[in-house]
Amino acid sequence: MRFCAFLTAAAAALATVCVLAQRAPPFTEDCRKSTYPPSGPTYRGPVPWYTINLDLPPYKRWHEVITDLTPEVRHIVKDLLDMVNAFFPSGKVTKMVDERLPAMLGVLPYPFEEEIKGIADVSGIPLGEIISFNIFYELFTFCTSIIAENKKGHLFHVRNMDFGIFLGWNMNNNSWTVTENLKPLTVNLDFQRNNQTIFKATSFAGYVGTLTGMKPGVFSLTLNERFSSNGGYMGILEWILGQRDEMWIGFLTRRVLENATSYEDAKNMLIKNKILAPAYFIVGGNKSGEGCVITRGRKDTPDVYELRPKEGRWFLVQTNYDRWKNPFFLDNRRKPTFMCLNQTTQENISLASSYDILSTKPILNKVMAWAAVGLVAPFWGGGVPRVLPAVVWDKPDRNHL
Ligand SMILES: *[C@@H]1O[C@H](CO)[C@@H](O)[C@H](O)[C@H]1NC(C)=O
Ligand SMILES: *[C@@H]1O[C@H](CO)[C@@H](O)[C@H](O)[C@H]1NC(C)=O
Ligand SMILES: *[C@@H]1O[C@H](CO)[C@@H](O)[C@H](O)[C@H]1NC(C)=O
Ligand SMILES: *[C@@H]1O[C@H](CO)[C@@H](O)[C@H](O)[C@H]1NC(C)=O
Ligand SMILES: *[C@@H]1O[C@H](CO)[C@@H](O)[C@H](O)[C@H]1NC(C)=O
Ligand SMILES: *[C@@H]1O[C@H](CO)[C@@H](O)[C@H](O)[C@H]1NC(C)=O
Repeated sequence: MRFCAFLTAAAAALATVCVLAQRAPPFTEDCRKSTYPPSGPTYRGPVPWYTINLDLPPYKRWHEVITDLTPEVRHIVKDLLDMVNAFFPSGKVTKMVDERLPAMLGVLPYPFEEEIKGIADVSGIPLGEIISFNIFYELFTFCTSIIAENKKGHLFHVRNMDFGIFLGWNMNNNSWTVTENLKPLTVNLDFQRNNQTIFKATSFAGYVGTLTGMKPGVFSLTLNERFSSNGGYMGILEWILGQRDEMWIGFLTRRVLENATSYEDAKNMLIKNKILAPAYFIVGGNKSGEGCVITRGRKDTPDVYELRPKEGRWFLVQTNYDRWKNPFFLDNRRKPTFMCLNQTTQENISLASSYDILSTKPILNKVMAWAAVGLVAPFWGGGVPRVLPAVVWDKPDRNHL
């Protein structure tokens, strides 16, 4: 039970840090232009692709990725433990994570437990630390996701991945340590069965869930964090205490990408499954009007908001706040996103212009690890690249924040 007390205390401490961390002046710049394809001093080059072969036993699937990126995974796991140890300096928490977390968590659903064990063994990082690394993604995903439909009925689904806001401010160079250290972990993944792509994802090495992915030609899916008093850490506590009927959100989205066969099927799975943490699921399909934001509580679905291009609702924007509520006043990414989409117009929405919007501050911010832009599924079928390119940026220009 000491572990539970730790989780509760850590969550409370982080909530405080959250409010402090956001005390930056609200800042909005003019909508950017011509930022795509990315280049310049802050561009770190393309993200590497890896194939995850679903025909292999789960234990073996991540070996190649982890073999290449063990030092980077080690680095980030150390950051997270350093942060926890800053709150609980006795070192007891590390000991607990290493020795007791694996047993306390009991059985993770197939195939995740085996995959995580494989990652721990290949990297030589203790299993408990890999598990806690996977838990952190359930709690700290700050992002902006957009779905927009152009006049031809093509859907563009794009997202910024902001991650690590609470996780360590580096006084020396004014950067968020965890965000910085996550950038080199960014990978593009091609999940295959029978040598055929089942879905593609952009993710962080060492994490077995999926926060951003697309089934080429069928649907695309991104996940954003939703805050709530009955929040994610409560779900994780209950899970540890043995109530196992709720799914980890990043595991549900991975399952949907792997096994849902259509936009409608994906939507149903995302609406109906009980989940450990509240979330927003942003889903795009392969025809005009197929795009929605699903607002989820752990057990309920208060809202499903759909595109209605014929009535002029040609885009949906989701940050980390319910659409019927005002965003936290220091973190209003919604309004500038609306403004830039309005300025771009439906005629001119494209991969490049969506990327411009993601590159505009404060939609672009210091905790952004990367951005992904994707053409969901060309309306007309073949011939057009169905890709989810992702880019990693270095720290955005400090002078602008
Ligand atoms: C900030 O400093 C840390 C440690 O000295 C380093 O790892 C990180 O890359 C630096 N970040 C930037 C943006 O320069
Ligand atoms: C996948 O392709 C490789 C070589 O390209 C081949 O050796 C293997 O048998 C194929 N696997 C399946 C399941 O088709
Ligand atoms: C998808 O379905 C298959 C077959 O039922 C199952 O083996 C696999 O574990 C499922 N994938 C996930 C991520 O749950
Ligand atoms: C759209 O997805 C459905 C499956 O939901 C599939 O049958 C159809 O072929 C797809 N259409 C295109 C144009 O890819
Ligand atoms: C964008 O346009 C919509 C529809 O015309 C309007 O409701 C909204 O207020 C505009 N938002 C901004 C920030 O310009
Ligand atoms: C749309 O793009 C075209 C070609 O780049 C440009 O001429 C036009 O002004 C743009 N429209 C708007 C509303 O920005």
